[in-house]
Amino acid sequence: MEYTEWLKYKDLEYRDGILYFENVNTLDLAKKYGTPCYIINENMIRKRYNELKNIIDSEYIKNDIHFAVKANSNISILKILDSEGSHFDCTSRGEIYTCLKAGIFPEKIIYTGNMFTNEDFEFAIINGVVVNLDSLSQLERLERAYNKLKKEKKPVSFRINPEFGAGHHIHDITAGKDIKFGILEDQVIEAYKKARELGFRDFGIHQHIGSGINNPYDFERATKKFLSIIKKIIDSLHIKFKFIDFGGGLGIPYHPEEDPLDLDLYKEIVIKPFKELVNTEDIGEPIFKIEPGRYLSAESSIILTQINTIKDNGYKLFAGINAGFNTLIRPTMYNSYHHIIVCNKKEKVRKLKYDIAGPICESGDILGKERDLQELKEQDYLAILDTGAYGFTMSSTYNSRPRPAEILIKNGRSFKIREAESYDNLLKLQIIPDHLK
Ligand code: LLP
Repeated sequence: MEYTEWLKYKDLEYRDGILYFENVNTLDLAKKYGTPCYIINENMIRKRYNELKNIIDSEYIKNDIHFAVKANSNISILKILDSEGSHFDCTSRGEIYTCLKAGIFPEKIIYTGNMFTNEDFEFAIINGVVVNLDSLSQLERLERAYNKLKKEKKPVSFRINPEFGAGHHIHDITAGKDIKFGILEDQVIEAYKKARELGFRDFGIHQHIGSGINNPYDFERATKKFLSIIKKIIDSLHIKFKFIDFGGGLGIPYHPEEDPLDLDLYKEIVIKPFKELVNTEDIGEPIFKIEPGRYLSAESSIILTQINTIKDNGYKLFAGINAGFNTLIRPTMYNSYHHIIVCNKKEKVRKLKYDIAGPICESGDILGKERDLQELKEQDYLAILDTGAYGFTMSSTYNSRPRPAEILIKNGRSFKIREAESYDNLLKLQIIPDHLK
C-alpha cells in the first residue's frame, strides 16, 4: 500500500501540512486538551467492527464477535461496540464490572480468565456470566460455586491449548506445551466427561493462540488442530457445542510497509473449515465466536505528544517528548513498532534520524528508534499511531506521572471521555499511620 493510502486507511491525512485525524485538526486538539493525550476515533471502531462482522456473516450467520476488553476498557469504547452489537471477552472481575457499568448485558460476556479463584467463579455466577475454564482442576471448584449459590448452571467451556501458537512477541504466544494457558489435547475428553458427570448440560470450547498475528496461515494451522480436537470430543462424547470460540489475535499493520490482514483469506482458512465441520458432523448449530481486541481498537487511536527537548549529543539526535513508557509501554516491553509522525509538516526541511525519547528515568524509555523525520524543533507536536489497543490499559503512573486524558472524536467533534489524572489522584489511596503524621 502506498504511504498516503496507508495513512488514509487509518483515517489520517495532511491538509496544508497539518495532520488531520477523522477530519479533525490534531494541532487544535493538542492545544485544546493539552498533551500527552489519547485521541480515539469513534467511527474507526465502528468501521473495523463492521468489516469483520460482514466477512463472518457472509459465511456463517450464527456468530458473535467478542471484543477483548483488555485491549481498551474505557466505558465509552465499550458502549460504542455494544451499540454495534458486539459481545465482550473479559479476563478479570474488574473487566466484567466495567462492562456491566457500561450497560452491557451479562449474556454478552464470556469470562476467559486464567488462574481463577473461587471468588472469581462466584462473581461470574452471581452476575450471570459464562466461564471459560483454563485448567481441569478448576471444574470441581466451579461446580461447588454453583451449588453454594444455588444457581442454575450456565454453559461451561474449556480453553484448549492446541500446542501451536503465534504472536508478535514471545510474551504473546499463548499456546504450546510449556505455556501456562489452557488444557492440552490429552486432557480434553476427561474434562468434558467430568463436566457432564458434574451436571453441566451445555458446553462451549475455546482456543486463543496468541496476539498480533499477521500471517493468516498461523490461524490455519491452529484451526486444523482445534477442529480435529473438537471432532475427537464429538466422536467419543457426542457433545453438541453451544459455541466454538476461535479466540483473537488478528494483527494490524503497525508499519507502513505492512498490509492489513487478509480477511477473505481468514474466512477461507478458519470459518470455512469450521462450517464444514458443522455441516458434516452431528454437532448441532454452534455459534462461531472470535475475540479480537487489537483488530477492533488499535487503529482507532493516536497519542498526541509535544517535543520539549532536542538533544544532539554529538553522536545521536534525541527528540524528547512528554509521553513515555508510562503512557505507552509496548515499545519498551515488546520492542513494538508504533509509527510516529509530525502534526505540522514543514516544506523543504532536511530529514534527520531521531530517537524519540520519553521523560521516564530509564534508558529503555524510547518510543521510536532511529526514526527518519523532518528536522524537529522544541514545541513541535508528534502523533504516535495505533495506540488504541493495549495503550491506555497498560499505561502506568511510574515516576509519579499522572495518566493522560482520553478524547473521543466523532464527525469532526471532540469529547473528553477520561480526565487526565492529577497528583492528588495518585496519592488518594495512601494512608499515613499515626506515628508518621
Ligand atoms: N482472547 C484471549 C483469551 C486473549 O488472551 C487475548 C489477548 C485476546 C482474546 C485478544 O487478543 P488480540 O485480538 O488483541 O490480539 N499486551 C499485548 C497483547 C496481549 C494480549 C493478551 N491476550 C500487546 O500489547 O501486544
